[in-house]
Amino acid sequence: MEQNVTPEITENPSRAAAKKVFVKTYGCQMNVYDSQRMADALASEGYGPTEHIEDADLVLLNTCHIREKAAEKVYSELGRIRLLKEERAKKGWNTVIGVAGCVAQAEGQEILRRAPVVDLVIGPQTYHRLPDVVQRVKSGEKIVETEHAIEDKFEYLPAPQATIVRKRGVTAFLTVQEGCDKFCTFCVVPYTRGAEVSRAVAQIVAEAERLAASGVREVTLLGQNVNAWHGEGPGGIEWGLGRLLFRLAEIPGLDRLRYTTSHPRDMDDELIAAHRDLPELMPYLHLPVQAGSNRILKAMNRRHTADEYLRLIDRIRVARPDIAMSGDFIVGFPGETEEDFEDTMRIVREVGYAQAFSFKYSPRPGTPGAELSEQVPEEVKGERLHRLQALLHEQQRAFAESLVGSTIELLLEKPGRQSGQLVGRSPWLQPVIVDESAGEIGDIVDVRITKAGSNSLFSEPVSVRPAAAQATLAEGGRF
Ligand code: 5AD
Ligand code: SF4
Repeated sequence: MEQNVTPEITENPSRAAAKKVFVKTYGCQMNVYDSQRMADALASEGYGPTEHIEDADLVLLNTCHIREKAAEKVYSELGRIRLLKEERAKKGWNTVIGVAGCVAQAEGQEILRRAPVVDLVIGPQTYHRLPDVVQRVKSGEKIVETEHAIEDKFEYLPAPQATIVRKRGVTAFLTVQEGCDKFCTFCVVPYTRGAEVSRAVAQIVAEAERLAASGVREVTLLGQNVNAWHGEGPGGIEWGLGRLLFRLAEIPGLDRLRYTTSHPRDMDDELIAAHRDLPELMPYLHLPVQAGSNRILKAMNRRHTADEYLRLIDRIRVARPDIAMSGDFIVGFPGETEEDFEDTMRIVREVGYAQAFSFKYSPRPGTPGAELSEQVPEEVKGERLHRLQALLHEQQRAFAESLVGSTIELLLEKPGRQSGQLVGRSPWLQPVIVDESAGEIGDIVDVRITKAGSNSLFSEPVSVRPAAAQATLAEGGRF
């Protein structure tokens, strides 16, 4: 998964025209959010965005370290960037090259050694220092900034400006929690993103209100372990994610809420109650289990059994019967036998996933899993992944087919690939195509699903419910 984040605007176009930044984002949604916040911070320093890397005075790679392949991609990209920098230098243009994200955090100085083209390396906890770091690089320093800052970066990062948000569309990410204390034995996150930190309630509510006022109708709360989020509500009362969702649902115009990624151990009663009571909370839950064998779950330090996971899903389904499940799976964790793998297939059959991500185990340096002796051969991992993905794919297809003929609410998001069409998002996160007569971008409309394609659904309009509440707020001049 790679995406270019190119915020369209700065408040000062003349300064923006002078310098350009190109940000390439790898990995998870949290990186997508971070890239936007970095671009915002640089906009206030006069950097405008560009979609063309060859025009960029500053190139930032926001990287992912979760699996080996993801990390290696960065080095091949840096090879290409070195040539680009040389080309630009021939024209007398300087290019600053930065590596941010989890590879930056994990490898630090090593990146400068392997790729001398890099000028700055900055870890996720210090993005608020980026403008200052760029200034220092320009005066000839090479900088590695990977200390875990004591100050709260969110306090220092400029709030996304309304104009920028408006250009970005009607759905947005909002990071509420970062880092992880769970230490699953395969995972680098506790090392790259550090200990679990929750953002304060007031900060989150203010950001959500700003998003709503600029036309955002769907917000996805992000965290590596989002359901471990906790904060202090008014009167000093301890809040969990469930309570926060109840509060965010009160914001006029915010009609859809989601959160990702969750750990089964942190699904508490209030969060399940939020699924039962909040129509704004979309009936779709990404709840990774990783494996179906208790022996492997234990070796992974997941701290729950397969049965506990299944019973949890039963409770969630009682609360919200139309909930669709999504998950992550790893095949070939050290010591995984054919029988263990069959347990993974069994849990998949029992749950029935609407969507899922599955990976071959990739030993990550510094994690306990990488030290285990019984590593599973690559061909075995490949063959198991193939079987698992066939099953998951079949389930995804069956879920999409089950919607044909039904009427669903669609948030219209953007123009479709073909003229005259719009693409929206179903409550279950599927792209849905509809004729543009269905409504305006930002409307939530009723559509009837007519066909399930391989990656999207097709639909016809039924009725329109315009974004009245949101329009009032946006025009209310909150800025
Ligand atoms: N190897 C393979 N997959 C991994 N994941 C995390 N670490 C590894 C690893 N070392 C997967 C998990 C996690 C998702 C984000 O990436 O399934 O939920
Ligand atoms: Fe990694 Fe486990 Fe934490 Fe998820 S819960 S980020 S898999 S250590």
